[in-house]
Amino acid sequence: MKRDLILKYADTSGKGIEVAPYFNPVLTKRDGHDLLIMDVFDTETLRDRVRDDPLIDSARATEIEEVDLVGDASRLGEVIARAGLAGSIDYIVSSHNFEHLPNPILFLRGAAEALAPGGVLSMAVPDCRASFDHFRMPTRLSDWLAAYHEERRQPSPETVFDSAANQAAYMRDGKPTPGCNLAFDTPAGFEPDRNLAQAYAAYVTARDTPGDYQDVHCNVFFPESLELMLRDLRHLGLIELDVIEVSPTRGLEFFVHLRKPTTPQDTSDAAFYTRRKDLLIAMSHQLGVAGFGLGPGAVLRRAITGRLNTWRIRLKNRRKAHKTP
Ligand SMILES: C[S@@+](CC[C@H](N)C(=O)[O-])C[C@H]1O[C@@H](n2cnc3c(N)ncnc32)[C@H](O)[C@@H]1O
Repeated sequence: MKRDLILKYADTSGKGIEVAPYFNPVLTKRDGHDLLIMDVFDTETLRDRVRDDPLIDSARATEIEEVDLVGDASRLGEVIARAGLAGSIDYIVSSHNFEHLPNPILFLRGAAEALAPGGVLSMAVPDCRASFDHFRMPTRLSDWLAAYHEERRQPSPETVFDSAANQAAYMRDGKPTPGCNLAFDTPAGFEPDRNLAQAYAAYVTARDTPGDYQDVHCNVFFPESLELMLRDLRHLGLIELDVIEVSPTRGLEFFVHLRKPTTPQDTSDAAFYTRRKDLLIAMSHQLGVAGFGLGPGAVLRRAITGRLNTWRIRLKNRRKAHKTP
């Protein structure tokens, strides 16, 4: 069950924060948890968003609990310090929120400030290969460094453009859906939106006149790409959180478990660079950059599968074109 997977290392008998539960919480205050809820929108705005979304049953609006901390979660550290709670939080849980954050390094630093030693940050994160971000490039550490040093408070116009220009839908029985299950769906079912001109027009407007907070996926990950960035940040001393585990993808999401250390960890160059090389090679495979590490049989199989997929898509598009009056 997802709840068990995300809370694998968290002691939920203590004081916790759930970031952005929206209408789909991991834990609730009404079940007796000593929980603070944070979201960039206040309770009424979130309830209105549910009522206005045709894909969500509007009855679920009433299930949304009071938001205690309204603000960009990137500023969690400041908010918690202002409330006099720094160092007193036992666990922070966040499901499908981390990818929304305009300034992830600031969030991770804030989480470490909020947590008591030994406290855990547990996150469920969508795998970009299975979601509507399928055609977007994975976020790099340099993107996060820019956001951190520019003290970004909302998604940049470039991020909003990238998200809008490269959205895709997973076509299931001819109907668009937000994503697929990597365990049994073929990624060939993703259909890119035809939204480039509108995305560019909105970008030009936003550059001239920055508007309200735009909620988009600022970050695009798969497990190895996110683990690499987290370990790099830890090694650089930019975050004070150790990686306990980054799970493989299950369906369309994976789970990230970080802990504020109680004792110093092995940060030797040798251990760090060994793991880093493994992650870089895994990423290179995932991105299809090179066939190295694969035997000649696997390289051939990959080439044939790729060619078959291309033919299948061409055939499907040709059939569709014939059907269109
Ligand atoms: C996709 S929903 C996640 C809902 C739920 N946790 C789940 O797993 O289905 C994303 C939530 O993140 C919130 N959000 C977006 N940007 C945020 C930010 N910068 N800081 C805090 N919350 C944010 C949205 O208001 C929304 O409630």
